[in-house]
Amino acid sequence: MSKVIKGGTIVTAERSFRGDVLIEGERIAEIGTDLAGDEVIDASEAYVIPGGIDPHTHLEMPFMGTTAAETFESGTFAAAAGGTTMLVDFCLPGEDGSLLNAIDEWDRKSKDQICTDISYHMAITGWSESIFEEMEAVVKDRGINTFKHFMAYKGALMVEDDEMFASFRRCAELGALPLVHAENGDVVAALQEKYMAEGITGPEGHAFSRPPEVEGEAANRAIMIADAAGTPLYIVHVSCEQAHEAIRRARQKGMRVYGEPLIQHLTLDETEYFDKDWQYAARRVMSPPFRSKDHQDGLWAGLAAGSLQVVATDHAAFSDEQKRMGVDDFTRIPNGTGGLEERMGMLWTRGVETGRLTPEEFVAVTSSNIARILNIAGRKGHVAVGAEADLVVWDPSITKTVEVATQKSIIDYNVFEGMEMKAQPRFTLSRGEVIWSWGQNSQPKPGRGKFVRRPAYASASKALSKWKALNTPRKIERDPMNIPAGV
Ligand code: URP
Ligand code: ZN
Ligand code: ZN
Ligand code: ZN
Repeated sequence: MSKVIKGGTIVTAERSFRGDVLIEGERIAEIGTDLAGDEVIDASEAYVIPGGIDPHTHLEMPFMGTTAAETFESGTFAAAAGGTTMLVDFCLPGEDGSLLNAIDEWDRKSKDQICTDISYHMAITGWSESIFEEMEAVVKDRGINTFKHFMAYKGALMVEDDEMFASFRRCAELGALPLVHAENGDVVAALQEKYMAEGITGPEGHAFSRPPEVEGEAANRAIMIADAAGTPLYIVHVSCEQAHEAIRRARQKGMRVYGEPLIQHLTLDETEYFDKDWQYAARRVMSPPFRSKDHQDGLWAGLAAGSLQVVATDHAAFSDEQKRMGVDDFTRIPNGTGGLEERMGMLWTRGVETGRLTPEEFVAVTSSNIARILNIAGRKGHVAVGAEADLVVWDPSITKTVEVATQKSIIDYNVFEGMEMKAQPRFTLSRGEVIWSWGQNSQPKPGRGKFVRRPAYASASKALSKWKALNTPRKIERDPMNIPAGV
């Protein structure tokens, strides 16, 4: 059974052109004109783009004394309905500290629920010989080539600089890519204490305790540590000019540093935390917090300029009741917001519809760039012969207002509620199967999604290893005759 997506405008990160896409089984067999297949999928008056890849989610994550309410089932359903066909979730070690056990646990949770493909980043939340050892198996046996480091959440997930340096060096050896949550956790903890002591106990205290400088400092520090360890670096949820500036400077020096703004930081601002309604403000508590308009403008410019490469969600959805854990103390409000279903629509609306991004740049930052960074570009994130047919018929004539009543997320609110999206998927295909079509009420089949194994040594890791090996400090051999006697 072949399928042909007919009559659309194919958009890749490089160019847009009229064409049909022929799918045989799970893969793209041919791209051309006047193609025929057993089944026709109508793409007239629409774009055909690679399925979105969201590289930053926390589904069912145990965090801050509770567990994120969004499940792998509801999360991947929301993704599919929004045009995202793959997500990468953060796998956190449990009490025993084992990385491999954590992966087993994440597999157990996700396997029967996922309706889109997924992968994991492995979190390094401490350092030991066994973690050093397990990292090799994580990469080689489990197909995970990314390791996440939290520079914030002191006393919980945070790692110190020496631990980060050791882990980054291990990443360099294994051809894996380190990721960082860049915020100075020591300063955040001190500022939290200060504002609480001053009686600022509401969600605005969350924003005050995490100023942009705190993020910028950590970004600079992580970049320095990555350079010393000889590895590329990926900075998650870049929210401000200070962190963006660090990334720009590093890239201009030839360092391989990637930056990921979130759709939330691109579209929502810090005034949200000053809302008189506590629950409204608490729903928006996430780290880093939303910033002012100037920071937003910088992030948009970075996506156009190429200094920032990827737009993610950091989807970490906690219910209203969970948020109320911090009703007297903002430091206890579970950090996180959602966006899996809205990322593509909001980015198109605020980016392409305003002329801030081209359709090609939209494709680059929603799928193609991250596919390259994650070393799966042959399979995902590209409309190309031989690639998996993760495709979206993206319809700019469908407008949709974000509403809790119709969202696929199981959360009782939506931080984008009431906002209008000016394009939506007419069809979402995952490995050649239509898993979502506009207006569909039923859910794609849970468990149909697959885990995507990602090989180590992405091109940038390989190139940097070569360069670092050529330029490593070396001992100067001297003729003993030219060395004076010691005193
Ligand atoms: O507030 C956030 N971002 N929550 C999820 C955990 C993290 O820091 O990414
Ligand atoms: Zn410290
Ligand atoms: Zn984070
Ligand atoms: Zn996160």
